[in-house]
Amino acid sequence: MCPRWLKLKESKRPAIRSGFLEFPEPFVFGVATSAYQIEGAANQHGRKPSIWDEFSHLPGTTSDGATGDIACDHYHLFQEDVDVMSKLNVKAYRFSISWSRILPNGTGGINKEGIKFYSDLIDSLLAAGIVPWVTLYHWDLPSKLDWLDSKDSITSAFSTYARTCFESFGDRVKHWITLNEPWCSAVLGYNTGDHAPGHTDAAEYVAGHHMLLAHAEAVRVYREDFADQNGQIGISLNADWRQPMESTREDRRAAERAMDFSLGWFAEPVFHGDYPKCMRETCGERLPAFTPAESALLKGSSDFFGLNSYSANFAKAAQHPTEGSGYWSDIGVEWWHTDQDWDRTDMGWPIVPWSLREILLHIQERYRPVGGIFITENGCACESEESAELDRRSDALVPTAWAGGEIWRPESGMVFDDPERVRFFRAHLSAVHAAISRGADVRGYFAWSLLDNFEWAEGYAKRFGIVRVDFPTQERMLKSSARFLAAVFKASSELV
Ligand code: NOJ
Repeated sequence: MCPRWLKLKESKRPAIRSGFLEFPEPFVFGVATSAYQIEGAANQHGRKPSIWDEFSHLPGTTSDGATGDIACDHYHLFQEDVDVMSKLNVKAYRFSISWSRILPNGTGGINKEGIKFYSDLIDSLLAAGIVPWVTLYHWDLPSKLDWLDSKDSITSAFSTYARTCFESFGDRVKHWITLNEPWCSAVLGYNTGDHAPGHTDAAEYVAGHHMLLAHAEAVRVYREDFADQNGQIGISLNADWRQPMESTREDRRAAERAMDFSLGWFAEPVFHGDYPKCMRETCGERLPAFTPAESALLKGSSDFFGLNSYSANFAKAAQHPTEGSGYWSDIGVEWWHTDQDWDRTDMGWPIVPWSLREILLHIQERYRPVGGIFITENGCACESEESAELDRRSDALVPTAWAGGEIWRPESGMVFDDPERVRFFRAHLSAVHAAISRGADVRGYFAWSLLDNFEWAEGYAKRFGIVRVDFPTQERMLKSSARFLAAVFKASSELV
């Protein structure tokens, strides 16, 4: 064990040493990606299109007409990417499986080459001592399917796909996530149309309802038929924190309502068996109801609370009817109220580190997840193409003389400097630490993302990676944030 670090097991209170934070053991530190955002090889080895392949090929759907056809070419370069993770002391890797690589038509025949790809990836991770955390659905529905298909058919399609994955990989994968951010799939895919499949007819509640039922059914299959695999299964929900604009009763209510309509929409059914009361009251019959059996199946259907959180906004009761149909007018809260003084990322998202502490405490209080909370995504896009270009010219590539050079020297001896992202991670890890100190049972943190990648409708201009990808050459280059996290990961493993 490294003598610089002290264990404070007695008090369970995490300590701060030498500017680094000590997290309670065992704490999972990892990085995350998703299939469509990094794999490429869209038409290779039997894979068929997903809704994102079709959507991104339609004119005007993504910035600069970007698609995931090639992305980071991770399908061919996965070994190199595992080697990078290994050098960065990554302990866990959250990635997703492309459903249409495994079952090209969504249902029916299995594509053996797809199985082989993920099998090889998993073996390579395990050989490097990296624990796989596998997401079954990260937005790339096989294009023959739709979340608005009948409840029974889409639920059964998803659970059959999940079963195929448990059968093929469950001997080695012990951490499963059914769905990633169903809020985004429902609202952006079935209301605003910003994401695939691009519907704008306010079908978000039906789509979300089917996603919840599909999740619950996959969990049932795993728990009943694969209990001997001794793994855990859960869901990753997204929400940004909503802070009352002023400390008035009205604004506090607005904040609660905003949380109910975002996190609560999916968390309440999964942890408590039904939608939030305020959603039921507002939406009436537009929000489908669960049968008693469905409600019972949903309640407790996540072994842990997976949280993706990036930012925060203020909440203020809407003074005027909100624009937009369905969801947007139902909320009754002004959605995008921010403090103009807050810094923002390249996505325009306010940088509010303390909000991560608040949302973690909210989850702890409201849901008390027995298996703890895992932050399955947190990170930022903070070097735009223009600033990267400027940086390149102004010598942003700096030598690795950091922490005495003891962490890792890439062969080139250079890294890409991204000080904003280092600050972002440092501040957000401090917020996680503060939440733990105040009683939140946080057990893991995954940085989004390992690589710069296809940021959905934003294309490749928004870079979230801790490793820079030069897309024309597919060259990977460490950023200083990777070096920073490598040191945090290393320090945490030395505690064990
Ligand atoms: C959440 C999504 O899960 C991920 O795919 C996306 O790239 C990040 N947020 C950043 O927007």
